[in-house]
Parts: sequence; C-alpha cells; structure tokens
Amino acid sequence: MYHFARSTNSFYVDCFINLRDSAVNIISRLESIVGRKNVSIEQADLENFGLDRTSVYCSNPRVIVFPTSIDQIQEVIYLANDLEVPIVPSGGRTGLSGGAVASNSEIVLSMNKMNSILDVNLNDRTVTVEAGATTQEVQEEAYKNGLFYPVNFASVGSSQIGGNVATNAGGVNVIKYGMTRDWVSGITAVTGSGELLVLNKSLIKNNTGYDFRHLFIGSEGTLGIICQVTLKLTEPPPPSSVFILGVSKFKDLLEVLKIFQSKLSLQAFEFFCDHALEKVIEVHGHSKPFVTYAPFYALIDFENQDNTSQDEALKLYSECVDKKLVLDGVMSESIAQSRNMWKLREDISETLWHYQPYKNDLSVRISKMPNFLDEIDSFIKKSYPNFEVIWYGHIGDGNLHLNILKPDELNKSEFKSRCDDISINLGKLVESFDGSISAEHGVGLLKRNYLKFSKSSGEINLMAEVKKVFDPKGILNPGKLL
Ligand code: MLT
Ligand code: ZN
Repeated sequence: MYHFARSTNSFYVDCFINLRDSAVNIISRLESIVGRKNVSIEQADLENFGLDRTSVYCSNPRVIVFPTSIDQIQEVIYLANDLEVPIVPSGGRTGLSGGAVASNSEIVLSMNKMNSILDVNLNDRTVTVEAGATTQEVQEEAYKNGLFYPVNFASVGSSQIGGNVATNAGGVNVIKYGMTRDWVSGITAVTGSGELLVLNKSLIKNNTGYDFRHLFIGSEGTLGIICQVTLKLTEPPPPSSVFILGVSKFKDLLEVLKIFQSKLSLQAFEFFCDHALEKVIEVHGHSKPFVTYAPFYALIDFENQDNTSQDEALKLYSECVDKKLVLDGVMSESIAQSRNMWKLREDISETLWHYQPYKNDLSVRISKMPNFLDEIDSFIKKSYPNFEVIWYGHIGDGNLHLNILKPDELNKSEFKSRCDDISINLGKLVESFDGSISAEHGVGLLKRNYLKFSKSSGEINLMAEVKKVFDPKGILNPGKLL
C-alpha cells in the first residue's frame, strides 16, 4: 500500500520526496482521466467525503474524484491498481456502519456526477439509472410513469441507488416488498481489477449459473464499483391508513401483528419504545399520539382500498383491547394525519444523533424477538445501569434497532470502548439466537469484528477468497466488511 514517510533521516527523506512526487502524480493523473474540475483536494471536501453518518470515525482521504462515465471509472481503477492506492466508493454517505469512511489517505470515488435516469421501460416495468441517482429520484420517476419503487426509508432524499444496492438497503416496507435485493434486475459494475461486468442484463428468467448480481448486492464496495442499476417497478399501492397502538409488553406486539396480519394487507409494522417517543417529541415538537402511557408502541400501515379496511382495523383493534393486548390507540383519518403519525417513527434516527448513539442493527426470526430483546435489556441493565437504551425498528421483518446513548460522564472514546465490549456480548447472544449482527445497515467498519457471530469461519474465508477474485490487489474499500 501507499504511504507517506514522516521521518527525516536521509533514506526516508528520499523516500518522502519520491512519494510526494507520486502524490502530485496521483492528482495530475486523476485530473487527466476525469478533468481538473472533477478532482478535489479542497479541505471542506476532504472533511466531508471521508464520512458517512457514523459519528465515531475521522475523515482523512487523499483526494476526491468525481467520474462522469464508466470509462473514467475503469481508468481510475487501473490507476489505483498501478499505484496501489485504495479507493473508497462513495454514494449518498447516509450509511450507519462506516462503509463509506475514508480515514487512511484513500481516493474517494464519488458517484455524485453520475446520477442520470437512463431509461424507463413500461413493458419491462423497469427503470435504469446511474448509481448516483437518489432513491427519491427513482421513486419520483416511477411515480411519474404510473409505477412504484417500494424500497423506502427516512434518508431517501440523499441516499443513492448505488449505495442502496451495495448495502442491500431495507427500510420500512420490507414486510410487504422485501429488501433492495428483491428489486434489482441488472447491475453494470467495474471490478477491482477494472473489468466491466454487465450482470443479468435485466432479465427475469436467466438460469445460466452463478448470478454475480447477487454477490454485488450487499458487497459494500469491496468487489467493484456499481455504475448503473436496473430496478424493477410495480403498480402503486392502494391508499393506506395508519394505526398507532400502545402495549405494555413487547411480546404483545407479536400477538397484535398476528391479529392485524390475518385480516389486512400491511405495508409496515414498526415499533418504538417510550424513550424514543419522548425524545422525538422533545426534539421535534410533535404531538403525542394519545395521552395513555405505554412502554412500547406499534405503527401499523395498512392498505385501505375502499375504506372498508378501516372498519376491519377498528374491529381488530377492539379484539386486541378485549384480549388486553393493547392499552390505547389512534387511527388516521386523512393523509395529513398519516404523515404526522409516521413522523413519530421516521424522525427517531435523526433525533438520536443529538445524543451520540452507539447503533446496533440486529435481526432474529420474528418469533424470537421478545426473548432476544428481554435478554439484551437485562444484560445492559445489569452491567451498564447508567446507559440509556432506546429500542425501535421493524417488527414485521425481525429487525431491532438498539441504540445506546452516551452518558455525559464518559468521553467519546471511553463510551465507544464500553460499547465495543457490549457488542461482543450482543454478538454471542445473536449467535445463540441464530440471528444477524447487521439486518439492513451493513457491516462496514463498525460491525466487522462481530461478523464471526453471524457467519461461520468457513463462510468468512470464502468471502475473503471471493474478494480476491474480484479485487486481487485489495484496492477497493479495504478494511470494510472483512
Ligand atoms: C431506521 O429504521 O430508522 C433506520 O434504519 C435508521 C436507524 O436505524 O437509525
Ligand atoms: Zn431501520
């Protein structure tokens, strides 16, 4: 790998001069590939482009490059191989696991200038975009054409499709529509050795052996640069209504899910705890859904084609109250009310940044969630009584977000090191529940040391071998995932 030597003895001075020449060389060679205006070493860019939304890392890239074509991406990759300088692929940098962090003098390859919608095909029901298009732009393009792209989460305005694919983004509608993986029908990517791959050619049926498209989905920028993506679209859903219910025990949420799922088509079944609600209200000034206190809340978004579903939902609500599963509840009667109710859930993540959270994105089978949550809660209460724990997430797909807030008396690094200890215990628990240490945020830097709790050493070794095939010199996103 490429280093700057810092010593002043003569050997290193020579070395330094050579390397400094190379540094100038890198910038000028990048400029000759993408043009001067598409290379930046501006301080503000160096500070921004090395970070995603994890708060625990420092930004220290060498240079930011903004290619405008696949050819340029290939050339940048050849150059990086030649000089053995690592590249960090960069999308909207909304990730929560440090997958887009550049803190070791890397080249950040930003897809910001490759963001065109290339094609909408109404026969195929697909949209083809450059990887830098935002999730929201794709959603809007689908909508304009009478279709729907269903992967949805709070950061759609800035997250980019390439990043969504690289992390197999999930979100709030997975219960109904699945993850990003379920919507990708084609990928054009350049591997770590510079080879151009056109994967699956957007076919529906294609039984021709290994489907590398699926290797790239969730590869976190370690195998290649995703340049273009073809996404499947579907018909827009019918209008929906929203219920917020309060329950006294987490396990009751599963009973409520069963009851609502038996009669209604659910687009989302989310949850949050009392502390999450308090904090969202405190930071954003939203109104409480109802006055009754509840330790846990469910947000249920159900399809309501002809308004009969609302009557059905009210009956199901009464059934839940009769069975003493639900303490109180409220149902939306307009789109505006639904939106306001959703804010109580969607604004949690952003709200918690004010409290420097240590984030965990865990999953187990839905049926195992209550025991899993109870065990984690009692472990943290016993071992770290001063730590405030905030729970929220996606009950409908077994995904629990555990956020631990930094107490004032600990500095950032003391807090991180205690949380790393907690993560080892969490990892062991995840393993014993056959769960995953990352449900939808990816592994990146933050969860890399805990991968062994979700994957066997055999699998991890194979992953490392696969990485070598696509990226023999290890220039792509080194240190992430593996
Ligand atoms: C969410 O469910 O709100 C997102 O995954 C973000 C987060 O976990 O903070
Ligand atoms: Zn989530």
